[in-house]
Amino acid sequence: MPTLTINGTEITVNDGMTVLQACEQAGIEIPRFCYHERLSIAGSCRMCLVEMERSPKLIASCAMPVADGMVIHTNNERISEARKNVMELLLLNHPLDCPVCDQGGECDLQDQAVAYGKCNGRNMDGRRIVKDKNIGPLVKTVMTRCIQCTRCIRFMDEIAGSPELAGVHRGEHLEITPFFEGPLKSNLSGNLVDVCPVGALTNAQYAFQARPWELSHTPSVDIMDAVGSNIHLDTRSGEILRITPRLNEAVNEEWLSDKGRYIVDALKHQRLDRPWIRKDGKLQSSTWDEALQALVQKLKEIAPYKQAAIAGDLIDAESAYSMRILLDKLGVPHRDCRQDGAKIDIHHPVSWRFNSSIEGIEEADCILLIGTNPAWEAPVLNARIRKRYLKGDLTIGADADLTYKKDYLGDNISLIKDIALGQHEFSEKLKQAQKPMIILGQAPLQRDDGEAILYWVRRAVTDSAILKEGWNGYNMLHTAAGRVGALEAGFVPSEGGKDVRAILESAKNKEIELVWLLGSDEVNTEALTDSFVIYIGHHGDKGAACADIILPAAAWHEKSSLYVNTEGRTQMTFAATAPLGDAKEDWAIYRVISEKLNMVLPWNNLDELRAHMAEYSPIFSHIDDLISAEWSDFGREGDLSHDTLKPYMENYYMSDMISRNSPTMAVATKEIMKKEEA
Ligand code: SF4
Ligand code: SF4
Ligand code: FES
Repeated sequence: MPTLTINGTEITVNDGMTVLQACEQAGIEIPRFCYHERLSIAGSCRMCLVEMERSPKLIASCAMPVADGMVIHTNNERISEARKNVMELLLLNHPLDCPVCDQGGECDLQDQAVAYGKCNGRNMDGRRIVKDKNIGPLVKTVMTRCIQCTRCIRFMDEIAGSPELAGVHRGEHLEITPFFEGPLKSNLSGNLVDVCPVGALTNAQYAFQARPWELSHTPSVDIMDAVGSNIHLDTRSGEILRITPRLNEAVNEEWLSDKGRYIVDALKHQRLDRPWIRKDGKLQSSTWDEALQALVQKLKEIAPYKQAAIAGDLIDAESAYSMRILLDKLGVPHRDCRQDGAKIDIHHPVSWRFNSSIEGIEEADCILLIGTNPAWEAPVLNARIRKRYLKGDLTIGADADLTYKKDYLGDNISLIKDIALGQHEFSEKLKQAQKPMIILGQAPLQRDDGEAILYWVRRAVTDSAILKEGWNGYNMLHTAAGRVGALEAGFVPSEGGKDVRAILESAKNKEIELVWLLGSDEVNTEALTDSFVIYIGHHGDKGAACADIILPAAAWHEKSSLYVNTEGRTQMTFAATAPLGDAKEDWAIYRVISEKLNMVLPWNNLDELRAHMAEYSPIFSHIDDLISAEWSDFGREGDLSHDTLKPYMENYYMSDMISRNSPTMAVATKEIMKKEEA
């Protein structure tokens, strides 16, 4: 480990660090523009110049590796003059846009001009104008503001794995441009807004909405996939204006998927803000008292074994748990949170978790992806696989179009049986690997042979040495933010209960007469034509359209709730705004219903409910933490069909009840999906 002297103080740092990183470790701030800790080094802006003894010139600290005995100065007249000159050059052609620039108040150029720049410039000539580029509906460009740091190009190449931006021309004429004019295809493109240090690339949806100092930042969790990316909900006067990523090295690092960032406008569209009751075939608004009275009346009329409940993909753990207890009290065994019909083994937590953890991907040396396209189903997790891929020595087997090279293994699921029996060349690769991983998606589990697929995947895990001392390489990748929490809360059929397929079938046959849809909008609602449907949720989507009673519930950004991500990591969201109109938190709705039925749920507030949940499963008391699940045998032995694997999603941008109601996602679907299809 080299020892160097910085501003007269000795410091020992790790091998391979740069002088800039060593200065940071010593608590010394070095200004920078092109340097970004998660991107390769460009060394182009020269803002990070420092003095190194025995070097005639100042050095770019971001590009200079540390060496033993180095003597560095970061703060003297020569460096200060150099920084002023660099700032003058950067501002030579920069427009005087700050008052109308969306980056104002959170702009690196603005901040560093104040801290390190001159009071005046010497440019008496005109300023260069650069034409704005069309890179789609999500990222707005004002290219005259670009300082050519190339962070955006490196982000697209390295993190997103979608090299769509480049620099053309040289020197003063250098311009950043997409290879092909039109929307970027990557579903991580919104991160360009954060990566760009100036106002050249900004959030198109948030343009001219607010200044950063007007916003309150509420910590929350993205529910547009099951990764559990940490986010901030930025609000002003009770309205969410933008969503930004929040740093969590174990989950999303500092990235966020485009769907997670841009569904903001859906939060006020098609919302359910009051109860509704169907009268004479038409939904009519009502009061809570009237709706609850009608509901309780119906619950008393219909026998419990003729009732059923289906939980949607965005349900929080408190809602799933409290409703499950209410159903237990009512004596209703038919309930399921697998609304897409996925044959997840409900008895073994290890079977439904991403056991290696998201961070664990960085340790893997062989990854087999089965029936999943993480680039669509979990873009941020996919970026982690790409990060591992870029380090080298990684074998990947898959059947999807991904952002890294892989061995194409075909779209026939029978390969998993061959791998389990050691009859496929990939099984040798898994056996040879030190830390192999299997990532199983949701699409195979939706098939009729889903349980057999789960069985053969489990056999492949145990027979190909994927399970080792200190390493569990079996992983299920979920797509629904609420699924793991609902499974952990026991929202699955109880003894003799029906799963979602059987519930819908029985509803069609009129054996089931009453169905609760808890934010469930993806089921085939035609099967519910003859049933009495109670919808509890926040958007007027497919489920609400077929309901007889609608109870408006608070959406995830309007309440504090627990979500368990695909790894089994419980995270907490906080209310950024109040529930809309007459909407109420789901757990409170179930509590009131239980009172009306004289089956009072044993908690009076959220803390008491969470204490009950922690008693039921320790996973709910380990916030932000992971507890490993014990290995057990899962799946059911059976034959595999020869049907080809189908993708889980048809349209990345509109895959659930929130994103379907987002005008921005509708435009993205029209423009970006069209480009992909072309
Ligand atoms: Fe001002 Fe920064 Fe915008 Fe340039 S990019 S106009 S310095 S706020
Ligand atoms: Fe850097 Fe932004 Fe210009 Fe890209 S657009 S080169 S990130 S200043
Ligand atoms: Fe070092 Fe740009 S930050 S050269």
